[in-house]
Amino acid sequence: MDLEREFERVVAADHRIEPRDWMPDGYRKTLIRQIAQHAHSEIIGMQPEGNWISRAPSLRRKAILLAKVQDEAGHGLYLYAATETLGADRAELTEKLVEGRQKYSSIFNYPTLTFADVGVIGWLVDGAAICNQVPLCRTSYGPYARAMIRVCKEESFHQRQGYELLLTMMSGTQQQRDMVQEAVDRWWWPSLMMFGPPDAESSNTEQSMLWRIKRHTNDELRQRYVDMSVPQADKLGVTFPDPELAWNADRGHYDFGEPDWTEFWQVVKGEGPCNAQRVEHRRKAHEDGAWVREAATAYAAKREKAA
Ligand code: 3HC
Repeated sequence: MDLEREFERVVAADHRIEPRDWMPDGYRKTLIRQIAQHAHSEIIGMQPEGNWISRAPSLRRKAILLAKVQDEAGHGLYLYAATETLGADRAELTEKLVEGRQKYSSIFNYPTLTFADVGVIGWLVDGAAICNQVPLCRTSYGPYARAMIRVCKEESFHQRQGYELLLTMMSGTQQQRDMVQEAVDRWWWPSLMMFGPPDAESSNTEQSMLWRIKRHTNDELRQRYVDMSVPQADKLGVTFPDPELAWNADRGHYDFGEPDWTEFWQVVKGEGPCNAQRVEHRRKAHEDGAWVREAATAYAAKREKAA
């Protein structure tokens, strides 16, 4: 079929598939699944750090955190808009999220217990997001790739503000240094899980790589992230809670231990420390915001009628 051959030619040439192009149903379905869950992650991801905006230790820290959390809302917006170019309905996607029929990143189901968590999330979680999202700037679907270019620029600000916060705390009191190390101990393994299950247990990677939606496998990106993070931890003066972490000169990479995949699948299944609270908060915010959506829709309809 010519259309299919044209699709395959465009993907093989590393060009972009655009909304009006023919695409296999499976390609469209995989993109809606991945981009919707990416968007859900951005919006749910506002909660853990949002928790600290009213308790930031200074006006400067509050302003930085406000800007960062606001950026995440914008990332969610770009990504929901990208799903709409594939024919998805944003309201339906939100319904699927609050009814537990679509996922969001496991990482956002862990609690933020001290202000050091804000720095560690910026450094490690946004750092992992950068590792995962930079290759997505070359994903085969045009609107997703273009959304990622702007998202990645903002993510580097997110990572830098987190790392700078931690550098400040590490040059503070022993109690502040202990607070940073304690946060690193809680966030390191869940950050490794952000990249998804091991390739051998990844049901989508093979096809997503063939369609050049994914440009690297879960394990490849996880390894890249560990190699990037260890020197940063050394500079900061913190350690990762992994006794197997060691440079392997033969491989030219760090060896590291196995994340607890039972914990991972439990969190993905909705049984993590904060899953119920995060989804309930999202559901309530959506409900509380209904009047805004209704007013905006009524206003737009009135304007259209008057035109
Ligand atoms: N949390 C929750 N579910 C996860 C997961 C995670 N960390 N990793 C994998 N899963 C799910 C997958 O969604 C899939 O389930 P599904 O088929 O029902 O969707 C199943 O586990 C098997 O995993 P696969 O590896 O086969 O799935 P994918 O090929 O989709 O790979 C992924 C998973 C690497 C997360 C990929 O979807 C991806 O790259 N997504 C885009 C990036 C993204 O969503 N990042 C989330 C964080 S956003 C963020 O960090 C914001 C920043 O500003 C802080």
